[in-house]
Amino acid sequence: MPKSLRSFLEECRREIPNEVVHITKEVDPAHYDVTAIIKHLGAMKKFPILVFDRPRNLHGQVSNEFKLVMNCEISQRKAQIALGVPRQTDRTRMAEVCLEREEHRIPPIVVDKKSAPVKEVVKKGGDVDLYELPIMRHHYMDGGPYVVLSTITRDRKSGIYNCSYHRMEVKSKNKTALYASPRHLWKIFRDHEDNNRECPVATVLGHHPAYHMGACYSGPFEVSEFDIIGGYLQEPLRLTPSETFGEDLLIPADAEIVIEGALIPGKRIVEGPFGEAPGYLGPQRYTTCVHYEVRAVNYRKGGMYQSVITPEGDKPWMDLPREGAYLRRCREAVPGVTSVCKMGRHAHYNVFISMKKMSEGDPGRAAAAALTFDHTKNVFVFDDDIDVYNPTDILWALATRVQPHRQI
Ligand SMILES: Cc1cc2nc3c(=O)[nH]c(=O)nc-3n(C[C@H](O)[C@H](O)[C@H](O)COP(=O)(O)O)c2cc1C
Repeated sequence: MPKSLRSFLEECRREIPNEVVHITKEVDPAHYDVTAIIKHLGAMKKFPILVFDRPRNLHGQVSNEFKLVMNCEISQRKAQIALGVPRQTDRTRMAEVCLEREEHRIPPIVVDKKSAPVKEVVKKGGDVDLYELPIMRHHYMDGGPYVVLSTITRDRKSGIYNCSYHRMEVKSKNKTALYASPRHLWKIFRDHEDNNRECPVATVLGHHPAYHMGACYSGPFEVSEFDIIGGYLQEPLRLTPSETFGEDLLIPADAEIVIEGALIPGKRIVEGPFGEAPGYLGPQRYTTCVHYEVRAVNYRKGGMYQSVITPEGDKPWMDLPREGAYLRRCREAVPGVTSVCKMGRHAHYNVFISMKKMSEGDPGRAAAAALTFDHTKNVFVFDDDIDVYNPTDILWALATRVQPHRQI
């Protein structure tokens, strides 16, 4: 059976039965019920997978067609199950597993629509209604309800597929405002826009966590991220034609829900404010917020809608691929690098590196490599006796080993 969110939940029910909790009471995700439950549990250091069986949709009605699944991304154990590695696997090894999976890419295969669970229900054109989905408002003062998962685009010239996360504010039943920082999706969209063409697009709203981990890949533009996702899944990702663009835009056959349509050239929509990953309310944005016109919704019966609430703690499905990417980059500069920690909310800006130092220049070279990447502001480099995943180790080393006038 191909890997899917359902196969992952089955595995979790077997391996960590107390970590899969069904909420059978009605909840209203658009009015913070789900946020409140997650925050209260988090304050108790509890991060079970939450399956909301009776979420309201954006019409305010209990959804008969969709469930809402949250928290699949939190905890090391769940990431171990997603990657299929033993529970003893430590964090550095897990980041290395991510690097290995990215190296051992597996190309996707195409299946016809009849063999694709995501085609069990298809709504197109005037029947498209995003308000039927149990979409969340994440935080107080967010501009509106938001979809937060990964989006598929395709380079016009090479045909290479890109997958990347982009929040999108739902503006009407078939319109969202997608926020794109100047990375690969933006490059692909702008190339279409410069040629006055619509940019085909699809967004996966539920899949196996290994799919989502692969979609976090940060690497060269030329690499097809469906191959990377195959590496993470350890099997070919099954794809099927989209409704809007047929074979020209393939979508994951075993996803729970996929919305698809076009990014419209020459149109921008105001989006935000939004409670952002670093823990602050971000401003409204405009110039890089693109009009995403949704033209079809594909879903499995009983579709499990997923979202991620912006990270507060460790979110291995995002942090691990990122740690792998830092490990790759820092080891290119300094082979003796042993670990790179990028986990937790502060890790958006802080990087903790440990290494077996072989020359005096090594720490500076590793730090410089880390600073060229992502949002890094502060880099801390330690000897390899320090566990960079342990805050007490870090504070002890900073207190006893740093000579600020010489080393900062
Ligand atoms: C949960 C989550 C939400 C994100 N939201 C956005 C977003 O709204 N806009 C954006 O440009 N990047 C966002 N990112 C970051 C990009 O998805 C990430 O940098 C991605 O690796 C870029 O892919 P690329 O290297 O293929 O361009 C988000 C990442 C995660 C994990």
